[in-house]
Amino acid sequence: MHVALTGATGFLGLRLLRRLLDTNRSLTVLAHAGSGDALRRIIRFFELTGATEAFVAALPGRLRVVETDLAQPRLGLPARAFRELADGLGTIWHSAGSINLEGDLPELRRTNVEGTRHLLELAGAGRGRPVLHHVSTAFVAGARREGVAYEDELDDASGFENAYERSKYEAELLVHAWSREHGRPALVMRPSILVSDLPPHPELPAHPLLVVERILRDARGAAGLRDPDRPRVRMVGHPHGHLNLLQVDHAAEVMVRLAGRRPSGGVDTYHVVHDRDVPVPTVVTLLEQLGPLSVELVPVKPEAPSALEALLDFYPGMTAYLAHRRRFDDTRVRSLLGPSGASAPVGLDYLWSGLAPPGRTRTGSPDAHAALSSSRHA
Ligand SMILES: NC(=O)c1ccc[n+]([C@@H]2O[C@H](COP(=O)([O-])OP(=O)(O)OC[C@H]3O[C@@H](n4cnc5c(N)ncnc54)[C@H](OP(=O)(O)O)[C@@H]3O)[C@@H](O)[C@H]2O)c1
Repeated sequence: MHVALTGATGFLGLRLLRRLLDTNRSLTVLAHAGSGDALRRIIRFFELTGATEAFVAALPGRLRVVETDLAQPRLGLPARAFRELADGLGTIWHSAGSINLEGDLPELRRTNVEGTRHLLELAGAGRGRPVLHHVSTAFVAGARREGVAYEDELDDASGFENAYERSKYEAELLVHAWSREHGRPALVMRPSILVSDLPPHPELPAHPLLVVERILRDARGAAGLRDPDRPRVRMVGHPHGHLNLLQVDHAAEVMVRLAGRRPSGGVDTYHVVHDRDVPVPTVVTLLEQLGPLSVELVPVKPEAPSALEALLDFYPGMTAYLAHRRRFDDTRVRSLLGPSGASAPVGLDYLWSGLAPPGRTRTGSPDAHAALSSSRHA
C-alpha cells in the first residue's frame, strides 16, 4: 500500500523517511508548498549523513513530491488533485508541524490543529481507507510536573506550559474524534524531546534544542554582555528534576516498528521515550556551557530579576521544563518491542556535539570537564 509522509524535510521527518525507504520502493512526500525545494533538501540530508551515491541517485525516481499547505483546506490542492491523491494512499504519516515553543496559539493552531484537520480530511477521503500515523508529543501531558503520564491519558486538567503543547493536545483530540466518527484506526506516537549529536549544519533542519542556544545568545546580546562574561542567572527548576531526551534516529526506528504492528481498530497511543531521563543538573551544565553563564536553580521566580533573567523568563518554552519531575510510562511500547526498544544513554558529550556553535569547545569552563566526565559515567 502506498505511503505518504508530511514533514519529510523536518528534523524527525527526514529520519522517518530514511526508515520508510528501507521497506518501501516509492513514497509520496507531502512537502510544504513555497518553503524551498524539498527534494533537494532531502537529497542533501542523505548526502551529508553517509548514504551511498547509488542510494542518493535513485531518490528522485523513488520520491513523488506533492506541494501542499497544511494550513489550507484540501491542503491547498484543487479538488480533483486532492481526491486522486487520497485515493492512491494506503498509509499517511503525519509528521509536519510547528515546533515553535515561542509561537502564539493562533499561529500554532493553524499548522498543528487545522493542519491535522486537513490531513484527516485527506485520510477520510481516500477510497482505500488509508491508515493514519499521527506524530504527537509526550508533552501533551501539559503542565503536570510530577507523577506518571500514561499513554492512554489525554486531558487538559493541568493546563499547558506553552501554546505548542496545547496545540498538539488539540490535534490529538481531533484524531480521536475522527477515529470514532469514521470507525477508523489511527496510531498516535508521542516522542519526548528529540536530540541528535550531528553538529549543526546550514543545510540540515535545525536541532530543536538549538533554539535554546539562540535564546541564550540573543538574551546575552540584549543584556549587553560581552564574550568572557559569565553572569549568574537564577532559573526556576528542581535539583531532582529530570527530562526525557531521545535520539531522533532511534525515535524514528521505534515509530516505524510500531507502525508495523496490527492496529487495534481505535486510536493506539505510544510514548516514544528514553528509558532513562536526563537529570536537570546535566541540562543546567549544558546551559552553563552554551551561555556561558552560571545557573542557580531556585524554587520560585526572583522578585527582582536581572535584565538577563527577565529576558530569559520571556521564553516560556525554555525554562519551565527544569522544574519537571514526571515520568512518561511506555509500557505499551516496551511490551510490544521488548528490550530492543531501549536506546543508548544521552549524556552531555552527546548533547554538546549536536548543539555547540562551530569553533566552540567545552574547555572554556573549568568545571565543565568535571561535569562532562561525571555525566559519562552516569
Ligand atoms: N523535534 C522534537 O523534539 C519533537 C518532539 C516531540 C514531537 N515532535 C513532533 O514531531 C513532528 C516533527 O517535528 P520536527 O522536529 O521534524 O519539526 P521540524 O524540523 O520543524 O519540521 C517540521 C516539518 O513540517 C513541515 N511544515 C511546517 N509547516 C507546514 C505547512 N504549513 N504545510 C506543510 N508542511 C509544513 C516543514 O516543512 P518545511 O521545512 O519545508 O517548512 C517540516 O518538514 C512535529 O509534529 C512535532 O510536534 C517533535
